[in-house]
Amino acid sequence: MKTIVEIIKEKLLEYSKKDGYDRWNNHIKYVFQNAQELAMKRNADMEICELAALFHDMSMVAEFGPKEEHPKYGAQMAHSILTELGYPKEKTELVEKCVLHHSTDWNGSRDTMEEKIIADADAIAHFDKIPGLFYLAYAKRKLPLEEGTEFVKNKLIGDYNKLSPQSQKELKERFDNIMRVLFVN
Ligand SMILES: [Fe+2]
Ligand SMILES: [Fe+2]
Repeated sequence: MKTIVEIIKEKLLEYSKKDGYDRWNNHIKYVFQNAQELAMKRNADMEICELAALFHDMSMVAEFGPKEEHPKYGAQMAHSILTELGYPKEKTELVEKCVLHHSTDWNGSRDTMEEKIIADADAIAHFDKIPGLFYLAYAKRKLPLEEGTEFVKNKLIGDYNKLSPQSQKELKERFDNIMRVLFVN
């Protein structure tokens, strides 16, 4: 029998096929791996973290609702899909909260360890796929060289600054190395 995580992953990959941009290979798979790693390190609920990682950007992949509000629409998707599959209500609510609060734009609190993990896992994923940020700057936004460089630099600094103190500490050496290699003044 398939696990709930396997079922949701299949659903996500199904949506991915229809979407032109391969969000799984370019982003979500890293968020998923980071969430697993952090759940292990922080003794959090692995299944909640895995599910929330799969759901966190799913509304964009499924093209459900406006992109700017993807956490809200993603939480709605998590609610209806997990409820339909008979997943326990309390756990479903935890997943929804993680999805709703994952974005760096979220200025409210993150009360559970799992919410903090998904926000961190999402931001750290940008460090796992830096070429993706350059692609966004130059290919998608068509920025000139200097502006594109600034865009990527500011994005990485912003992501780093919004990490939980614990993740900042763990990522510090890698962050410093990346900045040193990419941005020589
Ligand atoms: Fe997101
Ligand atoms: Fe994301």
